[in-house]
Amino acid sequence: MNSNSNPQRIACVGLPGSGKTTVGRQLARRIGCRFIDSDHVMENRIGASIREFFEREGEPAFRDLEEAVIDELTQGESCVLSTGGGAVLRPANRQHLLARTTTVYLHSAPEEVFRRLRHDQSRPLLQVADPLARLKELYAARDPLYRETAHHVIETGRPSVASLVSAIMLELKLEACEPPRP
Ligand code: S3P
Repeated sequence: MNSNSNPQRIACVGLPGSGKTTVGRQLARRIGCRFIDSDHVMENRIGASIREFFEREGEPAFRDLEEAVIDELTQGESCVLSTGGGAVLRPANRQHLLARTTTVYLHSAPEEVFRRLRHDQSRPLLQVADPLARLKELYAARDPLYRETAHHVIETGRPSVASLVSAIMLELKLEACEPPRP
């Protein structure tokens, strides 16, 4: 990838459970650049999990921190950046992602995400009686925002992470420095 004089940043957006972290990490490895997960950056800064921070400080405080971190990371070194599923809610984040990165929307239907996340306890917004109904609401509200923010939309319903990463590389015309992992 290019040097930091001309940083190349690829960002992944999409619903929780759409594979942003898994796919982003493998994409970074294949193209030979750093992988950054904005949720992990936040957890390191606050010294607590996202779920704890949400419960203690509330969602607006979380979104303020998320906005500051995304502003910073989208001006930093070349990387593949995985963002939290709600990052597109703030207009500033949408603008920064659009202007400073090549953004890929990993598109998954709420039912598909539900199948992957039904036992997950780390995501505060899904700790409700009916997580599928919540995912459908999130999808309805956010799908237009993901599309507004993204330069490319990729369907996640593929047989493997490796084939999904290959599809993204083809779409973005990216060159591999490592062969796919099984
Ligand atoms: C959120 C998604 C989470 C995390 C936080 C809020 C959301 O990230 O940022 O719990 O609003 O959808 P993932 O998309 O990685 O789960």
